[in-house]
Amino acid sequence: MSQKPVCIAQISDLHIKQPGALAYGRVDTAKALERCVAALNEFAPAPDFVVISGDLADTPTAEEYEHLKRLLAPLKLPFGSIPGNHDSREMMRAAFPASNHAQFSVPLNQRIEVAGLDLLLLDSSVPGKPHGQLDPSTLEWLDGTLSSTPQRPALIFLHHPPFKTGIWHMDRQNLLNADALAAVVRRYPRIRLIATGHVHRATLTMFAGVPTTICPAPNHAVDLDLAELREPSFKVEPPAFHLHAWFPGESFGTLVTHQVPISQFDGPHPFFGPDGKLL
Ligand SMILES: [Fe+2]
Repeated sequence: MSQKPVCIAQISDLHIKQPGALAYGRVDTAKALERCVAALNEFAPAPDFVVISGDLADTPTAEEYEHLKRLLAPLKLPFGSIPGNHDSREMMRAAFPASNHAQFSVPLNQRIEVAGLDLLLLDSSVPGKPHGQLDPSTLEWLDGTLSSTPQRPALIFLHHPPFKTGIWHMDRQNLLNADALAAVVRRYPRIRLIATGHVHRATLTMFAGVPTTICPAPNHAVDLDLAELREPSFKVEPPAFHLHAWFPGESFGTLVTHQVPISQFDGPHPFFGPDGKLL
């Protein structure tokens, strides 16, 4: 057996409502998170850390964050979170007072070191707006943090994708100042991944020379409409989370992202019998 990589699980867009309420009158996001937490707890080897990349609450209200905390309580893994457009910075700060936020009363940015990796969590939320934007203070903090520990690989997490997916109604509310992020990212080859949420779909592209992903959600997906055929719609598709596995090596190592479906499946079953022959 080879040595275990450093594993960072990412879950996104939980949209927790008050107990008993369904998202859009249809989706039980609380049940979806319960299943997601169980899947994370059962996953072996245990992930080293979990990042929740925004839209933890839905409306948001303090009651939703209390519900969220009760649903996250069984999670056996350390976690950190950043706001999405459905969140409130103030309510998140109150809900997770132990978080090591970089500044007070401004964006909830965090640097979290996990097994020699820097996880840089950027707050791209704009209070009261669906789109994303990185404040000048966030970009300055990112630049300063990246230059302060140049020997470590870094993974960047933010809620809003800095690229167009082709889904028209999401693309008008993505990260509006993506160019400003790209200008910082291009200066630091130690960035191995940019990981986002917001679109509730597994998506991959290159941005500023770095692999950049969108994490699927544990609940509903944004409808994959690439031709403006329908009104903005959602669809309940297989729930999943991302597992970012980092392997040490030259040039800041290698990062591989796995998509992990959330459900009960048959297996795992061995390929080979006791005699070493294929079954
Ligand atoms: Fe969002």
